[in-house]
Amino acid sequence: MNLVTSEIVELRKQLDTHNYHYYVLDQPLIDDAQFDQLMARLIELEALYPSLITADSPTQRVGGMVAGGFERVTHLTAMRSLGNAFSAEDLLAFDQKVRSGLAVDGQLEYIVELKIDGLAINLTYENNRLISGVTRGDGTQGEDVTSNIRTIKSVPLVLRPDGVEVPPLLEVRGEVYMPKGEFQRLNREREEAGEALLANPRNAAAGSLRQLDPKVTSQRSLDIFLYGIGVYTGIELTTHGQMLEYLKKLGFKINSQYRVFNQINDVIEYCRGFVEKRHDLPYDIDGMVIKVNDLASQQILGYTAKDPRWAIAYKFPAEKAITVVEDIFVGLGRTGVLTPTAILRPVPVAGSIISRATLHNQDFIDEKDIRIGDTVVIHKAGEVIPEVVSVLVEKRTGEEKIFVMPEHCPECDGKVLRLEGQAAHKCTNPHCPALFREGLIHFVSRDAMNIDGLGPAVLISLVEAGLVKNVADLYKLTMEEVLTVPRMGEKSAQNLLSAIENSKQAGLGRVLFGLGIRHVGVKAAHIVARHFGEIMAVQQATAPELVALDEIGIKIAESIVAYFAVPENLQLSADLEAAGVKMTEEQQEKDENQLFAGKTFVLTGTLETMSRNQAAEIIERLGGKVSGSVSKKTSYVLAGDEAGSKLDKAQKLGVEILDEQQFKQLIAE
Ligand code: IVH
Repeated sequence: MNLVTSEIVELRKQLDTHNYHYYVLDQPLIDDAQFDQLMARLIELEALYPSLITADSPTQRVGGMVAGGFERVTHLTAMRSLGNAFSAEDLLAFDQKVRSGLAVDGQLEYIVELKIDGLAINLTYENNRLISGVTRGDGTQGEDVTSNIRTIKSVPLVLRPDGVEVPPLLEVRGEVYMPKGEFQRLNREREEAGEALLANPRNAAAGSLRQLDPKVTSQRSLDIFLYGIGVYTGIELTTHGQMLEYLKKLGFKINSQYRVFNQINDVIEYCRGFVEKRHDLPYDIDGMVIKVNDLASQQILGYTAKDPRWAIAYKFPAEKAITVVEDIFVGLGRTGVLTPTAILRPVPVAGSIISRATLHNQDFIDEKDIRIGDTVVIHKAGEVIPEVVSVLVEKRTGEEKIFVMPEHCPECDGKVLRLEGQAAHKCTNPHCPALFREGLIHFVSRDAMNIDGLGPAVLISLVEAGLVKNVADLYKLTMEEVLTVPRMGEKSAQNLLSAIENSKQAGLGRVLFGLGIRHVGVKAAHIVARHFGEIMAVQQATAPELVALDEIGIKIAESIVAYFAVPENLQLSADLEAAGVKMTEEQQEKDENQLFAGKTFVLTGTLETMSRNQAAEIIERLGGKVSGSVSKKTSYVLAGDEAGSKLDKAQKLGVEILDEQQFKQLIAE
């Protein structure tokens, strides 16, 4: 091995270990900046020596688009589902059946696991490497979603056996899920964008796994718990519990809340405990799974036509409550979307007192025919967001009032419009004080400029006093001005001014996020900032240049371009810069070798040894540009397999066409 190869191998090993400690064990060994440094070095080396890129390198989690939908794949062994138990009696009956099937009277071990509410997935490893991830589908055939599974950071691309043997072919099974926090974040984003909301984390996880663009999946922070093995040979395992520990030793994430009992009554008690405890978990569970622990006994019991006889799901009762809609209030978000909220007579549901529920939009209200004064059934969608399930029409008195979205903004009286094809109503006044207020609140928030001491009340009084007309004005505030805020003492004023001063150093990533550009979340803002390094470059970036970045999709790209096409927005950036706000970010280093300076590439088709993003990164590092469409100005078209119309156009225009091999030769020179 030469020096470069051994450095690459060492970096991959370190990055895999840190990924494992961060995503599987939840015990990071180093901080994010150190991790980023290692990753940047690996990206740098792989860009210089692309022939050394391997599919299981930690840089390769996000690949290219899946062309033509997902392939259907037949499972090597069927993926069964489970029969259901809804009560203690059902579990006692299950215990009786198991006992008679095994002809045991005495002790019998059960293992109880959480029933994760996501979707079942089968992962296949050959010679330690992940080769496929397939959904359960109908149990016999599923969809090959490997490219999306690879984006889940807790899924090892390469197994990391800790003192245990690994069979050459191994199928492991588990549940892919979306954590509750991620589900909330995603729905918040969708609500702001006027898009339909996802009903619960399970649907959200399923939708995310079925994205044709792995970039989208990678932004969704999915996770996985493994709970079973399909095909395996040559491993000595006696109990299901041992199997879980074996999976753990291979580097998989298993759920640690499993317990072994030898009394069905203890099983029942453990299950009941989670009816309440589940609300404190960061992910949804919809029940518990009870399995006979001994693997040989599982074999003896076997399966009915549908389900295993050795396992059963204990399903929790869905928690609902009945209450009254006392009023419907319309609030305004940062993007001007009007969101109706039901003010409810307070009731306890799933671990907390609920006094309001989002009604999302007019369609939601109309579909369920929710009226002010109605008696309604509510639940928590995805165990988190209170939602109205249905109206108890029989409780109507005739006094109920039908709700209609106001035609004028409740804040500024501006005209409210519903855009065609969208669920959301919006205030059309670009100067609506609510938009401005919400925008300010966002600008100072933790993930943006993180200015402590600037709560909504303080901001509102600064705005009302005419002291803050745009976010740049925050940086012009004086001591005397801040002291005009009611109840503001000298010390707090001093603290506030120094928090504002400190925030100037936050960096371009936070500024970009803080500006509240539609669809631009924290992650995207930082990716863009790090890539372009300074505000001018971001302002001049084209949509294809932005899309060429990992994890930046077309919606984000177009929104950034549209934002900086508006003169007032350009002025605002200039004002911030003039006020001393740092508008730069440490940029990823460019290569000294500017082989492609002045050259424009178009990438098409599937490349064999690298993703298109990877190729784009190499081109940019070497000073070239990547564009989305072929024109006379295109210097090269890099064409992989199944290249389509772009290749035809290149041929027509006489643009030089490179295959992957030629491209690699060029960069090796
Ligand atoms: S075992 C043959 N264990 O529940 C036994 N399933 O209703 C196969 N699930 O399709 C399943 N957590 O998607 C098992 N700890 C767990 C589970 C679990 C969630 C899901 C899985 C399965 C469904 C059956």
